Amino acid sequence: MENKSCHVIVLTYPAQGHINPLLQFAKLLASRGLKTTFATTYYTVNSIDAPNVHVEPISDGFDEGGFKQASSVEAYLESFKAVGSRTLAQLINKFDASDSPVRCIVYDSLLPWALEVAKEFGIYAATFLTNSASLCSLYWHIVNGLFTLPVNPEIESLSLPGLPVLAFHELPSFLAYPTSHSAYLAVVMEKFYRLTENDWVFCNSFEELESELVKAMKGLWPVKMIGPMVPSAYLDQQIEGDTAYGANLWEPTTDQCLKWLETKPSGSVLYVSFGSMASVSDEQVQEIAWGLKASNRPFMWVLKGSENKLPGEFMDSIGETGLVVTWCNQLQVLAHKAVGCFVTHCGWNSILEALSLGVPMVCVAQGTDQPTNAKFVEDIWKVGVRAKRNEEGILTRKELYGCIRQVMEGESSRQVRGNTNKWTELAKKAVSRGGSSDRNISEFLAKVMERNK
Ligand code: UDX
Repeated sequence: MENKSCHVIVLTYPAQGHINPLLQFAKLLASRGLKTTFATTYYTVNSIDAPNVHVEPISDGFDEGGFKQASSVEAYLESFKAVGSRTLAQLINKFDASDSPVRCIVYDSLLPWALEVAKEFGIYAATFLTNSASLCSLYWHIVNGLFTLPVNPEIESLSLPGLPVLAFHELPSFLAYPTSHSAYLAVVMEKFYRLTENDWVFCNSFEELESELVKAMKGLWPVKMIGPMVPSAYLDQQIEGDTAYGANLWEPTTDQCLKWLETKPSGSVLYVSFGSMASVSDEQVQEIAWGLKASNRPFMWVLKGSENKLPGEFMDSIGETGLVVTWCNQLQVLAHKAVGCFVTHCGWNSILEALSLGVPMVCVAQGTDQPTNAKFVEDIWKVGVRAKRNEEGILTRKELYGCIRQVMEGESSRQVRGNTNKWTELAKKAVSRGGSSDRNISEFLAKVMERNK
């Protein structure tokens, strides 16, 4: 039964890697009896299909095509701030005049202006970090003076509390190359300067996964781990029928993928995907193609918008061994028993999904948070290997083939599989009743529910 008087708005940044975890959180709140409204932009609102969650559009000022219509990242973020604040306030006013006034906004940390809106209305504000806590702690350390930008590329390594020693190439590109990401970096830094102004700071991770950091940051920052935000069916949880996030910005080729996977032996398939945003050069696509071919294993490859970069000779040679699609239901693919390895760009959601579903990884990090995530995959959680690029920045077919062998064959394969299974169990435990993430969510729910407006 929905508690109409306890109403939470969950506000997302309109990218697949942000919508998925925030929508999952909205579904979880709804399953615990809160009235939950998921707010996203006009051009993404129709892609949301989540029973029990109300969906409302807000405007970023580019209602037809969003980001692509803007002249620059700066222009987009500026517009979202101005128009988004206004339309979010209108939405809250509309609800306040109804029988379900809003008590709390849970907002994507890329939209820090939502904090002002929450303050204006005197309601709770919770920000939601979509990266790992370790990654986020780097920004926090900058704000607190533990290191300064720009980082000198000549430094051997960076040693910070609760983190492994990081080499320059293991830093997120926002920090390694701040001038190329200045608009996003400004937004990211703003949220860390204002972290303690929020009533809650949630992170899509779980305490056991980042235990060293949790220990080092205890009492220093207010971050609460509430993840992994992966649909409940995959973590043996109880939201009925919850087998998908409930949002697809592109049409998935689910039937085709599942039918193809059914024809492959258990644990044999390489699943290859670089997420929703990464763009891969023609040369790189070719090297990956021939590396997959050399591995002599079945592969399913999501090549968003780059299918035509594949050499004809390669396509002619793969027959039933390979399937190339433009988008799939990644969770269903990772959960399929035929999949034995995930060749991934190391987006944070992809990593949490692979850990939750017990699939070891070959890491082909591109930019943003991915090089740091890949470091953890290989060195800390030991659930995969990192593919190295050559001096021209290319991952060669030989290197890819070698990494695939390490994950798929022999003692190294047994080890990464054993470790992956361990993390799967810990992820399930964290979100089960009384687990570390569940406790943090329950505390939030209790406080929001008790508030008298
Ligand atoms: C980016 C960043 O890389 C990520 O770390 C950050 O936290 C959010 O923004 P993205 O590059 O899209 O995200 O990668 P990822 O975080 O892995 O998210 C992609 C999502 O799309 C995953 O939830 C994945 O399941 C889904 N997906 C991907 C599909 O459903 N189908 C596909 O074919 C590919």
